Amino acid sequence: MSAAKTAHQRLLEDRKSLPIYAYREQLLDAIKEHQILVIEGETGSGKTTQIPQYLHEAGYSKQGKIGCTQPRRVAAMSVSARVATEMDVKLGHEVGYSIRFEDCTSDTTVLKYMTDGMLLREFLGEPDLASYSVMMVDEAHERTLSTDILFGLVKDITRFRPDIKLLISSATLDAQKFSDYFDGAPIFRIPGRRFPVDILYTKAPEADYLEAAIVTVLQIHVTQPSGDVLVFFTGQEEIETAEEILKHRTRGLGSKIAEMIICPIYANLPPDMQAKIFEETPEGARKVVLATNIAETSLTIDGIKYVIDPGFCKQKSYSPRTGMESLIVTPISQAAAQQRAGRAGRTSAGKCFRLYTAWSFQNEMDENTIPEIQRTNLGNVVLLLKSLGINDLINFDFMDPPPAETLLRALEQLYALGALNDRGELTKMGRRMAEFPMDPMLSKMLVASDNYKCSEEIVTICAMLSIGNSIFYRPKDKQVHADNARMNFHAGNVGDHIALMKVYDSWKETNYSTQWCYENYIQVRSMKRARDIRDQLEGLLERVEIESSSNPNELDNIRKAITSGFFYHTAKLQKNGSYRTVKNPQTVSIHPSSGLSQVLPRWVVYHELVMTTKEYMRQVIEIKPDWLVEIAPHYYKLKDVEDSGAHKMPKGQGRAGPD
Ligand code: CDP
Ligand code: MG
Repeated sequence: MSAAKTAHQRLLEDRKSLPIYAYREQLLDAIKEHQILVIEGETGSGKTTQIPQYLHEAGYSKQGKIGCTQPRRVAAMSVSARVATEMDVKLGHEVGYSIRFEDCTSDTTVLKYMTDGMLLREFLGEPDLASYSVMMVDEAHERTLSTDILFGLVKDITRFRPDIKLLISSATLDAQKFSDYFDGAPIFRIPGRRFPVDILYTKAPEADYLEAAIVTVLQIHVTQPSGDVLVFFTGQEEIETAEEILKHRTRGLGSKIAEMIICPIYANLPPDMQAKIFEETPEGARKVVLATNIAETSLTIDGIKYVIDPGFCKQKSYSPRTGMESLIVTPISQAAAQQRAGRAGRTSAGKCFRLYTAWSFQNEMDENTIPEIQRTNLGNVVLLLKSLGINDLINFDFMDPPPAETLLRALEQLYALGALNDRGELTKMGRRMAEFPMDPMLSKMLVASDNYKCSEEIVTICAMLSIGNSIFYRPKDKQVHADNARMNFHAGNVGDHIALMKVYDSWKETNYSTQWCYENYIQVRSMKRARDIRDQLEGLLERVEIESSSNPNELDNIRKAITSGFFYHTAKLQKNGSYRTVKNPQTVSIHPSSGLSQVLPRWVVYHELVMTTKEYMRQVIEIKPDWLVEIAPHYYKLKDVEDSGAHKMPKGQGRAGPD
């Protein structure tokens, strides 16, 4: 007990040693005086963890909750856990977090961390945020789509709720721009302490940045004085590969080198493993953190002295012309590169190894990252704004407006999905779709499952798709076994969505057995998460009054329900074995991980595009072209599917479209 107490006392001392602590009173005074305050401070100065606590200590929580948004799930979880520890309370009680499909708050919660996307959804139930006394829109510089939309909504609220306090906090970027947008709100600057960071460039461009990063880690480990290493990668797969290679290359070296503790961190990493990156490095060892962009500004890891920056991140890109959205590995901006380098100089002088040339930093990198709103599909946001009664989207108070073409595209898509009528008003279908915290195509597929009497199956498929690519694993020494196990679910070339459903159903049949997961090379954690998501989706279906229905053997009905949401994502086989998307033709291929990658059906619907060596369709099912005209008569005409020798469909069978 007494040991715990001293640990807690140490935490209190930590709190007092943060740069922000010296400004506590000044900050509280400024908040008292101004309704809107822009707060700017070096990453790690204590904005996210301390400000909500200061406000709580100053009594704001008596008037209502103190909310704090985060662009990233992992940050919301880990920061709230940290604050709960500092306050010595149980996470989910006074301090909680809310992320999609996971609400860890209760009636007693007064400090609520949440993703920006979750706060957006809260507007649906509480358009004036009445239960909050303070809202802190944190990491504003990240300029995610949700944060940008929140700006407009919270700015509006301050006009009719003089009692609410609004804080816009960001790393040392863009503060003036935020102030201008929020009617000249004052800027409170927290001077950070920062140690010099030596920046080292490569002399020539690296052909393989993953390999270069690994070599650099090993070089640092054997030649540089103690201090932890942070490497930026673009995603989970890269991080897992790097981890494996690093383990492999250091194995056998045994006592010849110091201990290396490898800590991966990315969005889908289970919480207990996330905590590992914050554990203190034992004497004589070196921690190597392999991170996505998340460690750029949202998470601060103490003790980092060396940063390795390959210069890339995975970014969404969207072409309103073709309507195609894909995740692309893109060079980061100069601003992002500076943030990354800064991570090395927080507690002492550090070094940043840039795996690109000084020339390419100067000439090939954009100055700033383009806000997400200008490079993403807006379907989701437009549906949400329409549900909030905001009809005039062209005149919405955007900090940086999206391209008009993108807005128009979103309206068109929602119309084709039946969510809007031809006057642009929300339909009953649209209202139902807006209840689901997902992309409109997925929501449509869920709502449409009612027509095909397969809601149970579609809910399962949705839940499994939401997990992403972390369902199967493939140990290096058992690849053949793992592949065989995976292919079992694809028997009959049913298509990837249905294979996912079979995985889930088989697991359910074993009464959710962990052993079964091991035997089939399936990640039990991912499956449990799918089960959670599934439960919540079922609850939402009930809320929009869709009765549960099931017909697991009518595979065509399941495929039609999927097509109802994803008819935009249709591609047709070409003579050369590649595919062409049906509208706005683009060349695409089936991803090698798909069960249909060798089968090459004539017509397919895909879940998403990923750009690696080429544009790949991931998660694919076969469809019949005449379904398109039946399901999406607003989008496909007979001529679009005719050249395939499709059968003519009797008119009037389509159920999609505006009601
Ligand atoms: O928001 P800002 O970047 O200004 O700083 P912060 O996230 O509030 O972090 C302040 C301090 O809390 C840093 O020294 C972090 O290392 C520490 N922290 C932690 O130990 N564990 C967390 N999960 C989050 C923060
Ligand atoms: Mg922060």
